[in-house]
Amino acid sequence: MKRKIVAGNWKMNLNYNEAKDLLKKLIEYKDKFDTTTELIICPPTLYLSAFAEVLNGHDWVSLGAQNSYTVDNGAFTGEVSPSQLKSLGIKYGIVGHSERREFFNEDYTLLSKKVKALLHHGLSPIFCCGEQLQVRDSNVYKEFVMKQIEASLFGLKADEIEKVIIAYEPIWAIGTGKTATAEQAQEIHALIRSRISKEFGEKVGANVGIIYGGSCKPDNAKELFAQKDIDGGLIGGASLNADDFLAIANSFE
Ligand code: 13P
Repeated sequence: MKRKIVAGNWKMNLNYNEAKDLLKKLIEYKDKFDTTTELIICPPTLYLSAFAEVLNGHDWVSLGAQNSYTVDNGAFTGEVSPSQLKSLGIKYGIVGHSERREFFNEDYTLLSKKVKALLHHGLSPIFCCGEQLQVRDSNVYKEFVMKQIEASLFGLKADEIEKVIIAYEPIWAIGTGKTATAEQAQEIHALIRSRISKEFGEKVGANVGIIYGGSCKPDNAKELFAQKDIDGGLIGGASLNADDFLAIANSFE
C-alpha cells in the first residue's frame, strides 16, 4: 500500500513564542488530521526539547531535526548528534537539504555519513535531493539526481535504505511559488523508485517513501499526492500556517 507522509520543514523561521503558538494550533487540530498519514514536524533545533515534552504521549505527530552531525559526541562546537536527538525521542532527521548543500558546502561523503549516523541510532533520515534550474534546463537532471542518491545512499544495506524517506526537491521550485508539475515530479519519483528497486530489490523499492518538496501548497498537494510514486510532501513555507499544513496533510485520495 502507498505510504502517506507529510513533513513540515520550518527552517530557521519563527521566534519561540510564534513557534509555540503554531504547535498549539496544530494540537488543537489534532483530531482533524487523517490518522493514516505519517505526520512529521521539523522545527528549529533549539525548540525540539520543549516540543518533545509538549508532544509526549501524542502519537499522531512525530518530531524531526533539520540537521545533525556524524558522530555521537565530542569537540564539535555548535553541532547536534543523532544520539542526543534520540535521547529526546526525536524520530526523523533531514539530511542533504539543498540549503545545507549550497550554504554549508555539504557534500556526498558527509551526507552519507550523516545518513548512517541517524540510522545507527534508529532515526529515519529524510534525505533530500534535487537539481538547480540550470541543471533542469541542460537536460541532465535525471543523471544529476540519480548521482546524489547513488553517492550518498547506495552504501546502505537494504534494511537500512527502507527506513530512509527520500524527498525530491527541485531547487527551482523551493520558495519560489513555482511548483514542479505533477508529471515532472512523478517522472523523477518513478526513476528514483526504479533505481532503488534495481539496486535493493522490488520490495525495498516499493516500501521506500518518496516525497515531493518545492512550493507544495493546499491547492496543488492533491494532484501531486495522487501520482503513483509520490508518497507525500516535505513542506516549507506552507507548514508555517496550521490551516495550510492541515489541508496539505489531508490531501491524499
Ligand atoms: P517551500 O515549500 O517553501 O518551497 O520549501 C520546500 C522545502 O525546501 C522543504 O524542505
